[in-house]
Amino acid sequence: MNNLSDFQLKSPEAFQEAYRNSIDNSSEFWAEIASTFQWHKPWKEVLKYDWSIPSTEWFVEGKLNITVNCLDRHVNVHPEKEALIWEPNDPNDTVQRYTYKSLLAAVCRFANGLKNQGIKKGDRVCIYMPMIPELTIAVLACARIGAVHSVVFAGFSSTALATRINDAGCALLITADGAFRGDKKISLKAIADEALNECDTVKKCIVFQRTFQSVEWDNRKDIWWHDFIDGLSENCAPTIMDAEDPLFILYTSGSTGKPKGMVHTCGGYMVYTAYTFMNVFQYQPNDIYWCTADIGWITGHSYMVYGPLACGATSVHFEGVPSYPKWNRFWEICEKHKVTQFYTAPTAIRALAKHPTKLIEDYDLSALKVLGSVGEPINDEAWNWYDTHIGKNKVPIVDTWWQTETGGILISSLAGVTDQKPTFATQPLPGIQVALVDEKGRPIFEKEAEGILTINYPWPGIARTIYGDHQRYKEVYFSAFEGRYFPGDGALRDADGNYRITGRVDDVVIVSGHNLGTAPIENAINEHAAVVESAVVGYPHDVKGNALMAYVILYDTVSYTPSLYEEIRKEVAVQIGPIAKPDRILFVSGLPKTRSGKIMRRILRKLAAGEADQLGDISTLLNPEIVEEIIVGLAKE
Ligand code: PRX
Repeated sequence: MNNLSDFQLKSPEAFQEAYRNSIDNSSEFWAEIASTFQWHKPWKEVLKYDWSIPSTEWFVEGKLNITVNCLDRHVNVHPEKEALIWEPNDPNDTVQRYTYKSLLAAVCRFANGLKNQGIKKGDRVCIYMPMIPELTIAVLACARIGAVHSVVFAGFSSTALATRINDAGCALLITADGAFRGDKKISLKAIADEALNECDTVKKCIVFQRTFQSVEWDNRKDIWWHDFIDGLSENCAPTIMDAEDPLFILYTSGSTGKPKGMVHTCGGYMVYTAYTFMNVFQYQPNDIYWCTADIGWITGHSYMVYGPLACGATSVHFEGVPSYPKWNRFWEICEKHKVTQFYTAPTAIRALAKHPTKLIEDYDLSALKVLGSVGEPINDEAWNWYDTHIGKNKVPIVDTWWQTETGGILISSLAGVTDQKPTFATQPLPGIQVALVDEKGRPIFEKEAEGILTINYPWPGIARTIYGDHQRYKEVYFSAFEGRYFPGDGALRDADGNYRITGRVDDVVIVSGHNLGTAPIENAINEHAAVVESAVVGYPHDVKGNALMAYVILYDTVSYTPSLYEEIRKEVAVQIGPIAKPDRILFVSGLPKTRSGKIMRRILRKLAAGEADQLGDISTLLNPEIVEEIIVGLAKE
């Protein structure tokens, strides 16, 4: 039997050959890779799909448990190899290390606790935790027994948490008393309690003691983590799952309505995240890989938990933030753990670049072999700074394009193997068939072109549905262009076939790498008693990539007071979370609208970006005079 490492592509020629093979013989290509994993029962068919439904199944009728592949399999060969190195928020706290053996034991123990609570295959479990090892343990414990985890980022508000718990009908919530984030302490349990007031399905709440702050306690519902696992066995037989059984739900913002619970399944997701992890980062057995994301996002799921563990890798997980106690923290951690692969977001790079390079020069970063970027387009300045100051002009940079929906990376160079090009994600990975189309969905055949990205063939990691709303899944991703997956991004292609992602083509704005729909933010603003209507748009920001601007119409009866600004921002923080708070608010008497009443966001975006001279023809608007009023208002901002 082959090992997954036999499929590591080590030369441009090997990449080309694999790519060709993945197109010409797709099923054989993925079957060979999948056969390096441990299956309880082999699949009957590699791929069955019909995107007119849409339906996608990989490794049909294959049986497995992903934790066997992420843990047991490695315990059998290298039980004492470190799976996880946990770096706490405070550098004076103790680093925790989990070997594959001790991680499996902790996962099994917690899984037994879940079973004792009656949690079984298919039940949904919500996890709302800080970046501590117990978050990884909780995630894997769910997967061990076939419960579907739904991790909610611990920066979300109680309302956002409640919406997500209710949408998935979660039976149990796992949280912590509090979370440390830099010099802040966040009262997670209090936020969770508030959410649970709105959630009928959650019967128990498991609370890890992290900050030791005082919390409200309800004996009927709350259980301390340490009591929950007390005396439980460190063995737990894995529940055998169908390749297409759901593994997790992860919510992402849409351009309209409530968040979309993307459903990922066991078999294809495992194969895809492991294959892409190993190839994009060119992982080697003794490497120390560090992804700075939070497990509350897809990057954390795919490239901090499942991908690296499926490859038997050693990962650093960090609880804190790059600025605490000082802006040198990332480099201190890189030196301390001799990090070989470092994977972060452009927004972090831009924030770091604002600080003196002296903060880097004190540290030995010579172990670094690969730098990665994810989550938003990386601009030239940020790319060059990363290359010069962190990579010392000799470390390859992989700019990885993908989404919550895609499960894993779709477009990227392979570190040090295929050509990189600053600000370009470069080429589709094996198995990924990209087509650039125009607005009517017609494929653009010229090499050098700009258009809308679509993918016209399934890959194993694609999300299979939106939880409870397959119709929406069809509408959002498969209806814009028939027979193609539509990710919502635009792209530019150069003469060599390299892709540069130009940004969203819908009403989603990426702020500091967080995917935010403008509609839910507008809904939150409209909740304020003084507000009639609002429109939220993104505009370029030198650190966050994009920031949010809200145009707000107040009721005639309300007169403007400076406190309204903070009140509206607070409303957004309560409804969604602090990450969605608009940076700028302009109070206006109207919004530019078409004659059919549609808000002209394109105009609002241009105005927010300071491009009033590039508005084009506005004479067809219902109320062109409002544009002048907004320009005057902006001048006074
Ligand atoms: O617009 C693209 C942007 O982030 C979106 C996906 O966001 P999310 O589902 O939160 O996942 C982020 C982590 C994978 C995409 O539609 N995006 C992601 N990576 C890149 C990117 N834009 C440009 N370059 C990238 N490397």
